[in-house]
Amino acid sequence: MIETSRLILRPFKLSDHADMLEYQSNPETVKYVPWPVRTSEQVQEALEKGLSCTKIEKQGDSVLLSIELKESKKVIGQTNLNYLSEKNKYAEFGYVINPVFSGNGYVTEAARALLTWAFENNDLHRIAAVMDQRNPKSRAVCERLGLRLEASHTEDDFFKGEWTSTWIFAILKREWQSLS
Ligand SMILES: CC(C)(COP(=O)(O)OP(=O)(O)OC[C@H]1O[C@@H](n2cnc3c(N)ncnc32)[C@H](O)[C@@H]1OP(=O)(O)O)[C@@H](O)C(=O)NCCC(=O)NCCS
Repeated sequence: MIETSRLILRPFKLSDHADMLEYQSNPETVKYVPWPVRTSEQVQEALEKGLSCTKIEKQGDSVLLSIELKESKKVIGQTNLNYLSEKNKYAEFGYVINPVFSGNGYVTEAARALLTWAFENNDLHRIAAVMDQRNPKSRAVCERLGLRLEASHTEDDFFKGEWTSTWIFAILKREWQSLS
């Protein structure tokens, strides 16, 4: 569990189903994430799968954390870290928020805590976020966090039926440590 001033980041519980469904069933929310609009059954499936995503020890492992508001205990989104290369000590992270709670800095607060946890508790050298260039709000999160824009790829991803262009934002462990 990771605590910030307004949030708790913790593994999902089956009882989070209603809160998760609220944002995962929203077409606008899933537009640039690699899963479809989810039905109640698909959310249940994702929840069950996510229960085991609690640590990164070997390549292919993931951590999936709910973003819970401390005050109301409502789950307002999620953040994840995927361990993609053991050799390069490399992971990618992502984030999603229920649009009702967007615009309050919650994602930036959650992602900042996730990156600090990731570098302090795991043997990682570099962490990156890959995003669709039509998603400026995601870019803004990475800029607020202090990540570097490393790459701008043109139509490198065939995503949800069309060619899309992506940005890669990244940060090294030593760079992250020098920010805090
Ligand atoms: C991308 C996404 C996570 C960004 O969410 P967000 O709400 O804009 O991000 P934050 O929670 O950090 O909030 C930032 C906003 O809150 C404002 N804000 C208010 N208080 C703040 C605070 N204490 N700290 C930082 N920002 C604060 C910022 O100014 C910013 O507002 P702006 O968009 O008007 O400039 C969200 O749009 C989303 O879930 N999209 C769908 C899923 C998705 O695309 N995920 C990314 C895939 S790569």
